Amino acid sequence: MKKVFVFLSLLFCSTFHVSLSFSDGLVANGNFELGPKPSELKGTIVTGGKNSIPEWEISGLVEYIKSGQKQGDMLLVVPEGAYAVRLGNEASIKQRIKVIKGMYYSITFMVARTCAQEERINISVAPDFGVIPIQTLYTSSGWDPIAYGFKAEFNVVEMVIHNPGVEEDPACGPLIDSVALRTLYPPRPTNKNILKNGGFEEGPYIIPNSSYGVIIPPNIEDDHSPLPGWMVESLKAVKYLDSDHFSVPEGTRAIELVAGKESAIAQVARTIPGKTYVLSFSVGDASNACEGSMIVEAFAGKDTIKVPYESKGKGGFKRAALKFVAAGTRTRVMFLSTFYSMRSDDLSSLCGPVIDDVKLLSLRKP
Ligand SMILES: *[C@@H]1O[C@H](CO)[C@@H](O)[C@H](O)[C@H]1NC(C)=O
Ligand SMILES: *[C@@H]1O[C@H](CO)[C@@H](O)[C@H](O)[C@H]1NC(C)=O
Repeated sequence: MKKVFVFLSLLFCSTFHVSLSFSDGLVANGNFELGPKPSELKGTIVTGGKNSIPEWEISGLVEYIKSGQKQGDMLLVVPEGAYAVRLGNEASIKQRIKVIKGMYYSITFMVARTCAQEERINISVAPDFGVIPIQTLYTSSGWDPIAYGFKAEFNVVEMVIHNPGVEEDPACGPLIDSVALRTLYPPRPTNKNILKNGGFEEGPYIIPNSSYGVIIPPNIEDDHSPLPGWMVESLKAVKYLDSDHFSVPEGTRAIELVAGKESAIAQVARTIPGKTYVLSFSVGDASNACEGSMIVEAFAGKDTIKVPYESKGKGGFKRAALKFVAAGTRTRVMFLSTFYSMRSDDLSSLCGPVIDDVKLLSLRKP
């Protein structure tokens, strides 16, 4: 019996391995270190046609940018390796990726704005697309790692990163680097937590050498969220943090509420009307020089609690709990930060309180 089981599981593993077309991390030439031949470049402009950048298909005005290059009086810095690309008006880069049909994925890519105008990126994996504004800077370097989630409808998908802009200045247009992919395993509610992914452990790929966290843009829907289980239901993004670079209350991941009342995350839980529940969670700071008085507002249906937290910007957290009686079969749980905060080390990037380890449980004896 045991032998058969071992054999079967080996068989399963090997079959699985063969069909597992990529492992989490940068996509092929995702950091653009492989570039066009010198004959396919005119200055920075790629002139060699759609296959000039290895592994990618390009269209429109695409520039190949080397770190340290100057644009006007601005020195361009590339977050990973020595090269990045810039997408001019209506330009796009595209790559076909082998995935597993039916699985969920998260794309992480780094983007930098080059001009004062509002710039946007249209990222798509058919049939889905997301138009992501990049007008707000969350990192002092100017580079924001952004996450986008999708469900694979085919075994080979086409990922397109497109600049839908039509700026007057052709030198405007976002810079792109470090395009990575991660398979998501959407967690289920358990008897220890009615909420899914309450510790935020399942989420987008974090580029190992990047100490910026990952921006999860607003208006993402539940089923394609790069942060499984959660929706970012607001005007501005939230930030996904890793314990390698930040102080995180529990496990290796947490959420930083970076844009005051304009950024909120929410999840709808199944509840039994009339039953008493306790929503408990950690509130802290990421040890990223985000100092001052903070308040996290938590909501469960119509009930709410304000949790004050004094941050010295050096890490730490406290637990809080909200007891409530469910009014319906579905209860919306939501978190936001009352105030805006700025990092004291650079005074330019937004920051805020951290939340983690969110649990929702029913009380046996209310
Ligand atoms: C974004 O890209 C998708 C797919 O290519 C396209 O259908 C959609 O119209 C685009 N949206 C914008 C605003 O460019
Ligand atoms: C990441 O950092 C390590 C250690 O500093 C370094 O050896 C490695 O080359 C870096 N990787 C990239 C892709 O920059």
